[in-house]
Amino acid sequence: MKNARIIELPKIIDRRGNLSFIEEENHIPFKIERCHWIYDVPGGEKRGGHAYKKTEEFIVALSGSLDVIIHDGKEEKVFHLNRSYYGLYIPNMIWREINNFSTNSLSLILSSTRYDEKEYIREFENFIKLNQYERLNDI
Ligand code: TYD
Repeated sequence: MKNARIIELPKIIDRRGNLSFIEEENHIPFKIERCHWIYDVPGGEKRGGHAYKKTEEFIVALSGSLDVIIHDGKEEKVFHLNRSYYGLYIPNMIWREINNFSTNSLSLILSSTRYDEKEYIREFENFIKLNQYERLNDI
């Protein structure tokens, strides 16, 4: 699997309440150009269903839980996110779907680019084709 991975974040344990933080290019391997968050997800809904050409992302379930299903063109993996002190790093050219949102789930997504619809690959077949092309050119 193309280097998509769980990254543990610092956790400052405190009886007043715990604290975690993220520094760009330190805890996550890219400069943060944007952050967005997903909330008020109705039961049974799915999100994602796309890959990005260049954008890298880091997803943290700040509250509640969700599943991220990723596909690198060869294999599929499922990551269950349910803690605010770790997140899933997803490199570019990885297909992702997000489902199984718990009630009141709140997820934070950090991205390496500003929003640009041209960055999206929204057809899985197209993703597989572009992915194979990239692999051929890597050899
Ligand atoms: P999309 O990335 O497809 O959502 P998800 O992957 O969570 O299912 O985005 C949904 C809509 O929101 C789409 O019309 C684009 C818009 N959008 C922005 O305008 N800015 C952003 O930063 C993001 C992430 C989405």
